[in-house]
Amino acid sequence: MLQQHLSAEETAASGKVLVAVIDASASHRRQVAQALTPIYRTITFDNADAAIAPLREAPPRAMLVDRSALRLDAYQFIKMLRRQRSFAEVPVIFTDNADEGSVQSAARECGADAYLAKPYRRSSLIRVISRQISKSVERKWETLPSLPRNALVSTLDVFTRISDVMEKGEPIAYATVLTACGPLVEAVGMREYKDILKGVRDHDNYSYAHSVGTATLLLLFGYTIGLKEPDLSLLATGGLLHDVGKLSIPPEVLDKPPASFTAEEHKVMQSHVPLTLQYLERCPDIPKKLLAIAAEHHERLDGSGYPLGLKGGALNELARMASIVDVFCELSEKRTYRPPLDAEQALRVMTVDMAAKLDQKMLGLFREMLLDAGN
Ligand SMILES: [Fe+2]
Ligand SMILES: [Fe+2]
Repeated sequence: MLQQHLSAEETAASGKVLVAVIDASASHRRQVAQALTPIYRTITFDNADAAIAPLREAPPRAMLVDRSALRLDAYQFIKMLRRQRSFAEVPVIFTDNADEGSVQSAARECGADAYLAKPYRRSSLIRVISRQISKSVERKWETLPSLPRNALVSTLDVFTRISDVMEKGEPIAYATVLTACGPLVEAVGMREYKDILKGVRDHDNYSYAHSVGTATLLLLFGYTIGLKEPDLSLLATGGLLHDVGKLSIPPEVLDKPPASFTAEEHKVMQSHVPLTLQYLERCPDIPKKLLAIAAEHHERLDGSGYPLGLKGGALNELARMASIVDVFCELSEKRTYRPPLDAEQALRVMTVDMAAKLDQKMLGLFREMLLDAGN
């Protein structure tokens, strides 16, 4: 009746969020669990009634509910879910073996958040689940104070726009990104950044969450060491755009632990730097310093970085700041293949394991900033 698709040890060692799959068909449950396992932790049930009690103990971040698993009609079931605090905010994706139009209208009538008509592609399944998890995070922003809320909404809006235009091969004007980062510059200037960091932590669009997290801490770092405009805005926009090339990297590579990369996958992952530059260089009015942030955030002082293996003095100062913040954010974010490190653990890796790679004097200032901020 109940199947977990990861062992307890695997679960503890991953940063994956839980998705419940409720479907009467054993083969379908198995297929869905298999499709989701690289990205999400799954728990499966063959009928909706049996799912409620165990899920109440550990509510999932999204539920796929198939008509075949329902005793009540779908409307009654979702109404019953919404009355329970544990499930009030869990998105429900209604699935059924019928034509798309009827599944869509059935989903609308029963109050589901989204739908999938069987058979569906793996890519559609993942896209719908990810979007629903992100939307449930975005709904919580509505209760935040206006400065962090505006910063989150405005950066999400422009980041989504960048993803869309990039896919079509169209540039985005720097002025658009600069305007969209205005609320972020203002919020961090007023030291209202904690809600922003918290607001992106559970967002399911990893690229967006990482880019805004990086932009926020980079900006705070800039304010802390006394930088002024236009450098502050440059840090915000540079943080938001520094990894846009990753939007063209296949998710199978992005979600794979780097330690298990083949030589080819290493190359693909590292290609996000030239891909970012190729795109940004076509965008009107992108400042040279922003291009340096994007170009050099993976370069390391000892020459071990990529893409050029630049050394010490050759590295731009804003790019040195960006590499410190970028590494810190990477380590403190949860990934599908590992849980996040806390701030102390991340700083230890950066001072001990990466002593020759990062500007340690600058890292000292960054550490002080985090201590002052109480992180
Ligand atoms: Fe990067
Ligand atoms: Fe990055």
